[in-house]
Amino acid sequence: DEVIRVLGIETSCDETAASVVMLEDAPAGAEILSPRILSPQILSNVILSQVEEHAAFGGVVPEIAARAHVEALDGIIEAALADAGVTLADVDAIAATAGPGLVGGLIVGLMTAKAIASASGKPLIAVNHLEGHALTARLTDGLEFPYLLLLVSGGHTQIVRVAGVGDYRRWATTIDDALGEAFDKVAKMLALPYPGGPNVETAAAKGDPTRFAFPRPMKGSAQPDFSFSGLKTAVRQAATAIAPLSEQDVADICASFQSAVADALADRVARALLRFRTDYPDKAEPALVVAGGVAANRAIRETLERLCAENGFRFVAPPHRLCTDNAAMIAWAGIERLNADMADTDAFDFAPRSRW
Ligand code: KG4
Ligand code: ZN
Repeated sequence: DEVIRVLGIETSCDETAASVVMLEDAPAGAEILSPRILSPQILSNVILSQVEEHAAFGGVVPEIAARAHVEALDGIIEAALADAGVTLADVDAIAATAGPGLVGGLIVGLMTAKAIASASGKPLIAVNHLEGHALTARLTDGLEFPYLLLLVSGGHTQIVRVAGVGDYRRWATTIDDALGEAFDKVAKMLALPYPGGPNVETAAAKGDPTRFAFPRPMKGSAQPDFSFSGLKTAVRQAATAIAPLSEQDVADICASFQSAVADALADRVARALLRFRTDYPDKAEPALVVAGGVAANRAIRETLERLCAENGFRFVAPPHRLCTDNAAMIAWAGIERLNADMADTDAFDFAPRSRW
C-alpha cells in the first residue's frame, strides 16, 4: 500500500494552524473503478485562534496578526507533528496557504513552509486558501465532482462550482460586504462583542423576526451576486431611530436581520441550484456544500437544508472545525494536487498573493 502524508500550514487570517493529513492508496494491483477517495485521515489538526488579541479592536489588525503568527507558528507545527505521531521524515510534502489573505500572515506561513521543505528536501505545494475550503467536503464526506460550494465567511461570500481539482468556477460573489463582515458590523452597531456572528445569533433567538421589515438585497435579481451593504444600512437606520435600545430591541433587530439574510441567501442559492441542474442534468445526487464561519448559523443552515431538500440536492455541512479556517484543508488540498499531478512542487519562487 502506498501512504501519502502531507503537513499543511495556514496563516492567511487570524488563525495559526498546522495539520498532518494522510491518504492510504488502494492496495497495489487493485482495480480502481472510480476515482473515489479511499481513506483520508486527519492525523492532527492544531488551531490557535488570535480572537482575543483582536477583540479590543473589533476586527483583525493585520500587523498584530502577522506578529502573532511569527511567534506561534513553529510551536504549532511541532504540536501538529507530535499529535500525529510522526516526524518530518514521515511527511511526503509541505503544503502552505499562499493566498488570498493578509500578506503579513501569508509571508510567515509560506516562508516557514519553504524553509522546512528546503531543509528536509521535501516538495513544497503552494495552496490557494479557497481551494482548501472547496475540497474539504471530499476529505470529510468523500464527495465526488462536480458539486456546488457556498462559502460564507468573514472575508468571502461566494457560490463556486467545483468540477475537479483546479477546476473551479465562481458563479456568484458579493458586490460589497462579505456576509460574516455584515454580521460583525451589525453586532458592532448594537454593541455586541466581537466576533459578532455568534452573538447576533444568540440575541436573535430571543427576538421577533417580523418586527422589522428589512430589505432582501438582490432577491429576484437576474444578476447572480450577493449584496449586504443595503441591509446593513437599513439595520443602522432602524437602530438609530429607536435608540436607546433595550435588550428586546436588540434581540428583535438581530432576529429580523438574520431572517432577511436567510431569505436573501436562499434566493441566491436557489438560482445556483437551478443552474447546476441545467448544466448537469444527468448528475444523480447533486450536492451543495456549505463552508465558512457563517455556516455555523443554525437559522441559515436550516433554511439551506430545507432549500436543498425541496430541490433534490444533498446538503453537506462538514464539521464546524473543518468549515472555518484550519490547516487540515490545506494539507488535504496538497494531497489532492499531488494525486492529480497538479502540485506545483517547484514552488520555491512562489510569492504570496494577497489577492489570489
Ligand atoms: O470562516 P471564518 O471562521 O473566518 C474567516 O472569515 O475566514 O468566519 C468568521 C466569520 C465572522 O465574520 C463571524 O462573525 C462569522 O463567521 N460567524 C457567524 C457565526 N459564527 C461565526 N455568523 C453568523 N452566525 C454564526 N453563528
Ligand atoms: Zn477561510
